[in-house]
Amino acid sequence: MTAASAPGKVILFGEHAVVSGAPALGTAIDLRARVMVEDLPGKTEINIQGLGLRLSGFSIDSDGRVVSLGSSEEAAAAARYVSAVVRTLGVSDVRITVSSEIPVASGLGSSAAIVVATLAALSRHMGIDMDIRGIAAEAHRIEKMVQMGLGSPMDTALAAYGGYVQISDGVTPVELPPLDLVIGCTSVPHDTRAEVARVQELRSRYPEIVDPIFKAIGVISRKAVPCIKRMELEELGALMNINHGLLEAIGVGTRELSELVYAARGAGMALGAKLTGAGGGGCIIALPGEGACLRTITAISQARGRAFVVRTGCDGVTVE
Ligand code: PMV
Repeated sequence: MTAASAPGKVILFGEHAVVSGAPALGTAIDLRARVMVEDLPGKTEINIQGLGLRLSGFSIDSDGRVVSLGSSEEAAAAARYVSAVVRTLGVSDVRITVSSEIPVASGLGSSAAIVVATLAALSRHMGIDMDIRGIAAEAHRIEKMVQMGLGSPMDTALAAYGGYVQISDGVTPVELPPLDLVIGCTSVPHDTRAEVARVQELRSRYPEIVDPIFKAIGVISRKAVPCIKRMELEELGALMNINHGLLEAIGVGTRELSELVYAARGAGMALGAKLTGAGGGGCIIALPGEGACLRTITAISQARGRAFVVRTGCDGVTVE
């Protein structure tokens, strides 16, 4: 038996702008997807156990196609990612069991963590030589293929390397101290592909407006790095608030997201709050003031968000 786990992530700064080449900064969080591989002679089976769902029993045929789907679209999607890894590595005669603490379709990197952990567990189990760079690159290719989209390497890089990662002309891990953030989830699932397409369409209609917004977002992503290094949290919060406003300007904010952002900043007394990921639904992140996590959580919960604390800068993929 071989097991591996990989972390979820939040984008701190730079979503959408990164698709057009501006820098973005993301970090691994302490929620993980776990994948267990064991021998199963004559059969290949994928079990999806977690995802906050109670579902199992997906089978895939000898070509690695998913042949029996349960009732949940989320579990089916997770099985598709695992199946794509199985096909890529040309593996059979195994049972793969996936469980994950990372909420799905929320911009918290659930699918990337599943792909990375599956690649790590399966390659180790089968004796296939793959280093962490290889896992990150292959996971990005597989995630893009399954999503049929543009997709920056942010999620898969963070699931593989952990810590903090800056994306600009490539993937650069950055050494920064951990932060406690409060995540607030709207119960609205988000569709990254649709949001990216909408923003890119807006950009092609108004390049003279959207390009300067992307440029400003890129400046924020760069300025955030020394702020985190020096733990200048008030300034970091101010940068989060500006970034949220710019994301609103390009149309990816929603009433639900803004309600959580304003609850966190208001009653929650957070130093800053913004949506994270593609928007249109999903989650916000808030930076609580010193010793004020509970206050921020309560404010977000009262605004009907699901709130919890995460630690940033966590470990990347590990094989157990
Ligand atoms: O929704 P998420 O967390 O997968 O983030 C998407 C981030 C975008 O910048 C909108 C797209 C991308 O591929 O970087």
